[in-house]
Amino acid sequence: MKNPDLTASAAGHLMIGGVDTVELAQQFGTPLVVYDVAAIRHQIQAFRDSLVANGLRYQISYASKAFATVAMYQLVNQTGIHTDVVSGGELYTALQAGLPAERISFHGNNKSRAELEMAVDHHIGVIILDNFYEIQLLHEILLEKNTNVDVMLRLTPGISAHTHKYIQTGQVDSKFGFDVDSGQADQAVQAVLNIEQMHLIGIHAHIGSQIFGPEGFELLVNKLVDIAADWRAKFHYVPQILNLGGGFGIRYTQADHPLGPETFIDDIAAALKKRVAQRQLELPEIWIEPGRSIVGPAGYNLYTVGARKDIPELTSYVAVDGGMGDNIRPALYQAKYEAVCANHLNAPTVEPVHLAGKYCESGDILIDQAALPAVVPGDLVAVLATGAYGYSMASNYNRNPRPAVVFVENGQAKCVVQRESYADLTRLDQPYL
Ligand code: LLP
Repeated sequence: MKNPDLTASAAGHLMIGGVDTVELAQQFGTPLVVYDVAAIRHQIQAFRDSLVANGLRYQISYASKAFATVAMYQLVNQTGIHTDVVSGGELYTALQAGLPAERISFHGNNKSRAELEMAVDHHIGVIILDNFYEIQLLHEILLEKNTNVDVMLRLTPGISAHTHKYIQTGQVDSKFGFDVDSGQADQAVQAVLNIEQMHLIGIHAHIGSQIFGPEGFELLVNKLVDIAADWRAKFHYVPQILNLGGGFGIRYTQADHPLGPETFIDDIAAALKKRVAQRQLELPEIWIEPGRSIVGPAGYNLYTVGARKDIPELTSYVAVDGGMGDNIRPALYQAKYEAVCANHLNAPTVEPVHLAGKYCESGDILIDQAALPAVVPGDLVAVLATGAYGYSMASNYNRNPRPAVVFVENGQAKCVVQRESYADLTRLDQPYL
């Protein structure tokens, strides 16, 4: 099936951001990760426009685990939004990129003392507290350093979005956050309100990823508003910010029908205004943490076709020069993708083939049933919508170097992460003998 979102050059080559992918492959080699920067900007703007249109006070915090490099944090910086980080490494990269620390939130269920100290020393915007140990550890650090920090509490609201179980995080049986129903959240808020060095600006919850319906977010909004109303009664404290996390679904294949930022935000705003009126609270500030929906659709993985194996009367495997090292999602989550032949975009597709990677593992199949034209060695294949959790979860499995990353915009291409060399692979190795 022809993909209406893709553009072909006169020669029938896939174009991304005004750049010919065949030229990208020639210039930078394959496998190659390509981002359409305009598409990233467009998604950020779509969230922003919908939040503004609904009259909300808001903050968009890009969940950088989806794709965290200096260039990406620079883009985040330029658009003026916030980002969240989940490790000292992400925090370091964001700071290296010049992102102001006050626009960074720090998440994680087991932040180390060193990571918390780093965050405090850099005057990070907010630390999102995840557990009682962390409250104690951060308190100690703040006392030692005689300083203060803004915090939020991550709650586990008991809502699970219908999605793959590895990417559900809001349900009760989760390693993240303070459980609401058992009273842990109440204990946590009391503890934090008693700590002079912590300024509790809001509450956070994340209900899952790749969510297609608005219902989970509506339930979440109701639950968080109810918690705020309860805490007003019990503790004379009302959180000023409700942080709803991320999880907005995207189109990986034409079978996916994502709602788009506008619909999600309209539904969230309607649910919020209704519940807030019922509970006689002021309209809080709303934060969202989209990751996948900002970078996912903007990313493409380009590969060169190599070997082919036809098993008579059974099936065919077409192998490319990358695979699970640059995109672990099919192997890990059975994630589905679509691919096109980037140097013959409009060629008719023939029977589906298994698009196989080059890694030494039977499970390294990028697409189980890829509808491609009859490709030959040297053809260029683009896997679509790979921008989230592809490069960020890349590995050196089989000692394959990780690919280069290129940003394209307005007909210009810029390498933003170099391809690893073989020398990079042994850089940290030390001889034993
Ligand atoms: N906020 C929090 C607290 C999160 O835990 C996550 C994702 C997000 C925001 C962003 O969610 P997004 O908008 O990207 O769905 N590696 C998996 C996804 C793990 C997501 C974990 N948390 C994958 O490849 O699908």
